[in-house]
Amino acid sequence: MPHGLDRLSLGRTLGVPWITVGINAVLVGTMTNTRSARRIAQNIARLPIRTACSIARRFDSNYDLERQAKALPERIGAQRLAQLRAIPGCCSERECRLVAHLVTMAPSGGEIVEIGAFKGRVTGWLIEAAQMRPDRPVVASVDPHGWGTRADFEKTVADLGLAERGLRVHYADSRELGRTWSKPIIFLWIDGSHEYDDVRQDIDNFTPHVVREGLIAFDDSAGGTFPDVERAVAEWEAASGAYKRIATLRNVSVFRRIA
Ligand SMILES: C[S@@+](CC[C@H](N)C(=O)[O-])C[C@H]1O[C@@H](n2cnc3c(N)ncnc32)[C@H](O)[C@@H]1O
Repeated sequence: MPHGLDRLSLGRTLGVPWITVGINAVLVGTMTNTRSARRIAQNIARLPIRTACSIARRFDSNYDLERQAKALPERIGAQRLAQLRAIPGCCSERECRLVAHLVTMAPSGGEIVEIGAFKGRVTGWLIEAAQMRPDRPVVASVDPHGWGTRADFEKTVADLGLAERGLRVHYADSRELGRTWSKPIIFLWIDGSHEYDDVRQDIDNFTPHVVREGLIAFDDSAGGTFPDVERAVAEWEAASGAYKRIATLRNVSVFRRIA
């Protein structure tokens, strides 16, 4: 092969892919910039509505619980709070605070039950709040950890000493465990399967054990993101008669047993 052609083919071999990479990088960069720009524009467009909603929430008594819950971290030491905040999970700190506040409000005479623990973020807050109560109720955490979260969950349990502070772990599917559940429940937090039939089963199996004045909170039961959960909760609410909805806080619905 002549020397010139050799150099040309070498140039093609080395140059063309780099040119392609360069063009791709520019395209990706432009797309990313366009996407970022679109996101920024959307956020700016939503700002007035978000501000209006946030002002409205300040005066909405429905949000009293959320406002009260804001004070809860003051009762937790700085080191423990940092540990709680470092636990990975799906629930925001606002939700964790709310759930913990509900634990402090619940009557006595039973266990706290969590369905859907993931990596133990809410679990940590549940234990923290349970330990603030004079009766220090057990927190029963139910999750088969089929999403591969068992190691992370156990790390949370070990790092925060949850087992020594009242946690009882059920590596189980709530639909199975629920069939034989028999203990009274003072606070039930449902954030497990988000399928309609599964939510109905959790409701049917666990709510009969909630004591009078006991509390139930359903994650993702409002706000339009999980219609299956919303439908299951709405149907139960309409049919039950034994519970009163005491708040709907963004995506969380809170009920108290009244009969
Ligand atoms: C949305 S995540 C929970 C997030 C968690 N509250 C947090 O603080 O990050 C849902 C969890 O429910 C669990 N789950 C799904 N189906 C379940 C079932 N039938 N019984 C118990 N847990 C279930 C999943 O394994 C997963 O860990």
